[in-house]
Amino acid sequence: MINEFYKKMLDGKSVIRTLSEKAVKRGQEIGYENVFDFSLGNPSVPVPQKFTDILGKLIANPDSMYIHGYSQSQGIPEVRAALAKQLNERFGMDYTAEHLFMTSGAAGAIAHALRAVTVKGDTVITFAPFFPEYHPYVDNAGRHLKVVPPDTERFQINTDEFEKALTEDVKAVLINSPNNPSGTVYSTETIKTLTDMMREAEKKYGHEIFLISDEPYREIIFEGTDSPYITKYYDNSLSCYSYSKSLSIPGERIGYIAVNPNCKDADILSVMCGQISRGLGHNCPAALFQRAVAEAGVLTSDLSVYETNMNLLYNELTALGFNIVKPGGTFYMFPQSPEPDAVEFCMKAFDRHDLVLVPADSFGCPGYFRIAYCVETEKVERSLDAFRKLMKG
Ligand SMILES: Cc1ncc(COP(=O)(O)O)c(C=O)c1O
Repeated sequence: MINEFYKKMLDGKSVIRTLSEKAVKRGQEIGYENVFDFSLGNPSVPVPQKFTDILGKLIANPDSMYIHGYSQSQGIPEVRAALAKQLNERFGMDYTAEHLFMTSGAAGAIAHALRAVTVKGDTVITFAPFFPEYHPYVDNAGRHLKVVPPDTERFQINTDEFEKALTEDVKAVLINSPNNPSGTVYSTETIKTLTDMMREAEKKYGHEIFLISDEPYREIIFEGTDSPYITKYYDNSLSCYSYSKSLSIPGERIGYIAVNPNCKDADILSVMCGQISRGLGHNCPAALFQRAVAEAGVLTSDLSVYETNMNLLYNELTALGFNIVKPGGTFYMFPQSPEPDAVEFCMKAFDRHDLVLVPADSFGCPGYFRIAYCVETEKVERSLDAFRKLMKG
């Protein structure tokens, strides 16, 4: 008999994918350049030339096992040592290679982190609005995802609701800052409050509550935004990073987990992740890309384009009367729908004005919608008129 759990998942097709397919179909009719497709979080700025040069140099290496061979299941030791050094210099941490585990992007990092610090049946908290893939990440691991309702004033953390949710069965808290979909960056004050509450709950219940920090947008921070290095504020924490967005290489599947050196069992968590990999059939990301990101260091794509796009949209949309918390980073914006039903509003935007916006019901925040403005600035400029017409009705 085939597995009913996965069969059932076929009915729950992601609204983002559905809309993006509609956008592509519409593009075949009127030219994709005329569809204002704000549905997908695929980086729009090119890979930096320097990174392409690093890849070129690596690929020319005659030692083919150096770039194409199996690596240790934790990742290549010198790559992990190089990343530990970079993080220590930048954030004042004490990582060693032993605290690093190389993964297939942030998704791979979260899959391992969840399994390393929780067991089947445990509850994992996250905060709305949240990345809808958290459901499959957590559900497929046999854990239970508990969603804390949003703080719609600032899209920081709703602490009253968090307090209620922080019950004895909670073994991990999964956060995402800079946040998809709100674009909000959790402030130092928010992180301090969150981690104080977690430490108190650890004491009260007599067990660890791990913080899994999902950080694929760590490098996309806008001017003047307070962006703490989260894991610094909580010992029992695992930081899940990805190069998908910072280097515009989501298809290459490369990232890592950095285990806080003061975390419970910090010395073995990365090795344990290696064992988890054996069961997941993951067995380390491509050696070529492990070596390339280690060499790239703090190199990023030209991420300033996202701030330019954000300002264009934010200024125009707020002038049109949209209620928006100004994003501090990422390439997402999260306006309130002017009509109570955001699904209907987004359908109208698509049918009448070729604007592809994603209603936020699946992000745990009905009545809002997401704009993924990782598109060419020229297209953002042309879309403003479509937004004006949309608001005129
Ligand atoms: C919040 C969040 N977490 C995780 C991921 C997965 O990232 P990756 O491509 O690195 O697996 C994404 C991708 O869009 C994301 O937005």
